Amino acid sequence: MWSLVLFLVLGLFGSKISVEAANCTIQAKGNSKFPNDFTFGVATSAYQIEGGWNADGKGLSIWDEYTHNYPDRIKDRSNGDSSAESYRLFDLDLKALKDLGVNQYRFSIAWTRIFPIGHVHLKNQKGIDYYNSVIDKLLANGIEPIVTMYHWDMPVDLQKFGGFSNSQIVEHFSNYAEELFKLFGDRVKIWITLNEPHKICKEGYGLAESPPLIAASGVGDYICYTNLLKAHGATYRLYKEKFAKEQKGKVGISLDCRFYFSKTNNTDDIDRAMQYTLGLLAHPIFSKTGDFPAIVLKEIEKSSLEIEGRKKSRLPSLGEYWTNIIKGSADFMGVNYYTSRYVTPSTEPLGENPSMERDQNYQLDVDPNWPRANADWMYCVPEGLENLLKYIRDEYDNVEVKITENGWPDSGEINDDERINYFKSHIQAVLNAVNDGCNTTAYSAWSLIDNFEWNQGYTMKFGLFSVDMRSAKKERTPKKSALLYKKIIETKSVPDSV
Ligand SMILES: *[C@@H]1O[C@H](CO)[C@@H](O)[C@H](O)[C@H]1NC(C)=O
Ligand SMILES: *[C@@H]1O[C@H](CO)[C@@H](O)[C@H](O)[C@H]1NC(C)=O
Repeated sequence: MWSLVLFLVLGLFGSKISVEAANCTIQAKGNSKFPNDFTFGVATSAYQIEGGWNADGKGLSIWDEYTHNYPDRIKDRSNGDSSAESYRLFDLDLKALKDLGVNQYRFSIAWTRIFPIGHVHLKNQKGIDYYNSVIDKLLANGIEPIVTMYHWDMPVDLQKFGGFSNSQIVEHFSNYAEELFKLFGDRVKIWITLNEPHKICKEGYGLAESPPLIAASGVGDYICYTNLLKAHGATYRLYKEKFAKEQKGKVGISLDCRFYFSKTNNTDDIDRAMQYTLGLLAHPIFSKTGDFPAIVLKEIEKSSLEIEGRKKSRLPSLGEYWTNIIKGSADFMGVNYYTSRYVTPSTEPLGENPSMERDQNYQLDVDPNWPRANADWMYCVPEGLENLLKYIRDEYDNVEVKITENGWPDSGEINDDERINYFKSHIQAVLNAVNDGCNTTAYSAWSLIDNFEWNQGYTMKFGLFSVDMRSAKKERTPKKSALLYKKIIETKSVPDSV
């Protein structure tokens, strides 16, 4: 019966989607083993795990301020003040990492732990000591550090002046990055400048869903993208000029993206949606021509000038100078993938005028067969990940991709069979893509431990290890998925059973 339904669904939706989505699985294609140099790891971020929000001279970030000032905005009125306390208890994380046998650990540095007010002339040695100790312990155990410089925790003292809406952030961020290269670059060889620019700009500077709570969709978000891309590009050039020769590391950026399917198998619709999402960040950095995608520039300029009567586009071109700095400014693309959608162009204008929604002007929906998590946005769509990697292969000259996040939320069950299905199907999707010539070299699961899930507080869990947030010891207990992942890392293949 199911296969009949699937057959119909597949027939209707086109041949690209060759999966049995109904039970969160995907068909294996090609080699059953990853190449030997493919690496596996896990990811976390500072605000979500460290705690110690004001310990030892740390300054305030916008997430400290936001959770303290607006507890109502967090589902369980919680915050990251203590969280899993990795600042105090990193050795527990280290033990969990060793138990899994990971090749790499992706974590982020809290800007305000090292530079309490964001400016680099005021250093906090205790913060530096902490990250030195994390990095040294990882290396002593054969675990490669992947370091994210910015995972959403802007120093409050820089946000006062607009954060990513002030172009001065370019200088502040590259000064900060330069100090990180000096402090840790002798040992850290894989850097990620910024995590999930879409979330930063769309939710923080467009929809006011997260700090700095700016409601200016279609304007503020685009200003944010522009300054953020410049900060990234300037940082990359700085590394190449001053550090790359000696330190021999790689610098990339982690982009969050869904794949967009089309019910009518219309590749123009798919591509347009991809350009309005992944392309806004990836095209300036990874395309041959640089700058924002032509279709996006053209459409937003048209709306701005002809419909809204503005003097200038809400999303101006980056200009020749910045286009050249930003073009090619990454040694790899970090990809954070969680789920996918179907896209249908809207015949009526959508959303407020102006807004990013109106600019995009497409309707999003899901396949009723996609299994849903305990989050309204989250569906298991492994073929979306395979298609996304193939899209990147074809669109961006097969740039090296490191999957820097991929994971499944639940309520914290130890027997987390849904997460197991999610990891099995998604890691298989990555293997399918690798077998099909995609230049994907690394995979990091989100997340090592249960942690503070932003506006969802502690109600939504992504960890391979459970953490009892109420106990002082904060022990890390492996879930069933940790055993699966350990086996995947050991065998570099996806087992049939755990
Ligand atoms: C869907 O598009 C792909 C190319 O992207 C093509 O190979 C396939 O035949 C199309 N399927 C249908 C049902 O039109
Ligand atoms: C994969 O990416 C690396 C680093 O960017 C590059 O040197 C290599 O040529 C790419 N491989 C393929 C098959 O394109």
